[in-house]
Amino acid sequence: MKELKILGVVTVFTLILYWGVEPFAHSQMHKHVEGNNFKYADLSPLKAHGDVAKGKTLVTTTCVACHSIESQGIKAPMDAVTSAQTYGVNPPDLSNVGALLDEKFLAHFLMDPAKVTKSKHFAMPPSASSEQDAADIAAYLKSIAPKELKPKEAFVMACGRCHANRYGKWTQIGDVPETKSNIKTGVDLAALDFKKKVGTYQNKLADYMGKLPPDLSIIIRARSEHFLKTFVEDPQSQLPGTAMPRVGLTKEGFEKVKAYLEETGDPSKPLREETGSKVLFFFVVFTFLALLWKKSVWKGHH
Ligand code: HEC
Ligand code: HEC
Repeated sequence: MKELKILGVVTVFTLILYWGVEPFAHSQMHKHVEGNNFKYADLSPLKAHGDVAKGKTLVTTTCVACHSIESQGIKAPMDAVTSAQTYGVNPPDLSNVGALLDEKFLAHFLMDPAKVTKSKHFAMPPSASSEQDAADIAAYLKSIAPKELKPKEAFVMACGRCHANRYGKWTQIGDVPETKSNIKTGVDLAALDFKKKVGTYQNKLADYMGKLPPDLSIIIRARSEHFLKTFVEDPQSQLPGTAMPRVGLTKEGFEKVKAYLEETGDPSKPLREETGSKVLFFFVVFTFLALLWKKSVWKGHH
């Protein structure tokens, strides 16, 4: 049948356009970087076996000089703004580190933060003097890490000290507080006060990083998943010389962070995917019915 042939030709061309040309054009415009699936192959496997109790002693005598561990009731020695004034950035809370960072990465990181994160200046000094100490600390952090984390908690630990997320109401120093303006003047002093703190933090952070890290609310729409994945795994692979550190997420940790970026940047995605398949199904049924109808109309006319 002629119509079926035409339909076939149109379908084939559409598929070629869809799968062939667009990804091809894309690959020509962007440098292609092969990821390593968060394996950190440049770091040697740990020979030392971590001891949780020893790790606890090391953490509670050294790390807590700069870091909070909220889940263990250990408060931050300074607020986020004062930390930024001291280090250029707020050291992350350590409660969830063991759930998100690769254990091998973490141990090597503690021995030589600047080298392992591949950033020229990393404000944290080396904080473990041997591979055994590093393995003990990593084992302790793993032992206190919660089994399940919310996507936002993953983002806050891994990215939140540098990146705001406006749609998620996240600033580098915490969530935007609910405040009220004065009824008579319309002035919201508490909100202004908070803005000023964020401003002070961001200025210090920009001095430290060389520029202000971008807001990540809608990055999921601006960048492909492949870019985000390979960039987070190793920022230098996509942006040689960038100040953004390699943070050492596991693959699952990255998936959690990505889930948060999807939540804030593309909240209608689940609905759209559902609608999309319904529309496709409708077209298939409709085409079939149209063919049947045409057949019945033309019956006996040839
Ligand atoms: C002198 C203060 C200081 C001490 C002591 C310190 N840190 Fe840090 N740490 C920082 C700062 C500052 C950052 C953030 C630096 C940045 O992002 O550029 C950081 C970042 C981190 C990160 C995030 C790494 C990543 O992947 O992004 C972890 C994990 C960490 N520290 C763990 C520890 C542990 C465990 C110890 C103790 C063994 C420790 N730190 C001791 C200041 C400190
Ligand atoms: C210590 C600070 C720091 C941390 C932590 C950090 N970043 Fe960044 N990030 C930066 C800086 C600085 C830039 C700007 C890079 C540049 O232009 O050289 C940046 C840029 C980016 C970009 C934009 C790249 C582009 O060209 O479009 C993305 C995406 C990004 N970061 C994602 C993340 C994610 C996801 C995390 C957490 C897993 C994270 N970052 C953690 C500092 C940080």
